[in-house]
Amino acid sequence: MAIERVIDTSLHEDDSDESIVEFSLRPNSFDEYIGQERLKTNLRLAIKAAKKRGEVLDHILLHGPPGLGKTTMAGVIAREMNANLRATSAPSIEKAGDLASILTSLSDGDILFIDEIHRLRRAVEEILYSAMEDFKLDIVIGKGATAHSVKLDLPRFTLIGATTQAGSLAGPLRDRFGHSFHLEYYDENDIQKIIERSAKLLETKIEPDAAALLAQRSRLTPRIANRLLKRVRDYADVNGDGIIDMSSTTSALEMLEIDEYGLDPADRNMLSLMIDRYGHRPIGLTTISALTGDEAATIEDYYEPYLMRLGMIERTPKGRVATELARKHLGKA
Ligand code: ADE
Repeated sequence: MAIERVIDTSLHEDDSDESIVEFSLRPNSFDEYIGQERLKTNLRLAIKAAKKRGEVLDHILLHGPPGLGKTTMAGVIAREMNANLRATSAPSIEKAGDLASILTSLSDGDILFIDEIHRLRRAVEEILYSAMEDFKLDIVIGKGATAHSVKLDLPRFTLIGATTQAGSLAGPLRDRFGHSFHLEYYDENDIQKIIERSAKLLETKIEPDAAALLAQRSRLTPRIANRLLKRVRDYADVNGDGIIDMSSTTSALEMLEIDEYGLDPADRNMLSLMIDRYGHRPIGLTTISALTGDEAATIEDYYEPYLMRLGMIERTPKGRVATELARKHLGKA
């Protein structure tokens, strides 16, 4: 990515579980988890039922835009089930054998979390089918004339898959999830609560109007809210008395060039290029990617979802178009 983006929703090193700080910002239980009420209600019920019957949870698919808490939710589910969590991501599972070794190392009741599950390779995905369906590992050992298939029993586990693109999941895989939930953008009030909760955990004072302003600029996304909070806290520590108020928040957001819609220079650059070069004509994803220098997947996963939700970009069968709202916002109406 050309420019480092504060509002980027991809997981950075400093907010992975290895980081003590961000880890402590993650909620540990449904009671601590703010927002996603429908999801919590459904999962609470499923967990109670599974515990009552002494069974493992059905496999769960979590889908929705990045930064909304899919990984966090997997951690909460594991804790609420008193289960071990094994977390991995599809791109790091290269061969069928890699997945086989993960599956055979699980214990009864474990939860396996696979992030970006739409990116599993075909051969790896096929191993998952029988593992999910009847806890059997079906693998071929050897090559050519000596090749033979073996079936191994696996422990009873729960797979939690997360994806930003439920649509690109193969049908047979999608069908094997007993639960499928869409994570929604949060409402601004909930984002403000998350910011206030995080500030408390970071032992930083934040005034309510400053928290509200940050919430307005956070793209309804907790990961962005927490990241902005930390940048504003830096600003308030260096340029003030460490208290996050309207003045330090406004100045910090100005410095970060984050506007009232939560857009940063990279968003505005992409919209400008779309309007200046293509006017009202639809543009294909690969063309946008060539214009901005970002990978198509980055545009599709990270820029677009919120711009579409704002109504600044529309997707048509022929490609993407910047809308009147985008033109107005950029002074190109
Ligand atoms: N931190 C990040 N996401 C959160 C959420 N949904 N609730 C509470 N704290 C959070």
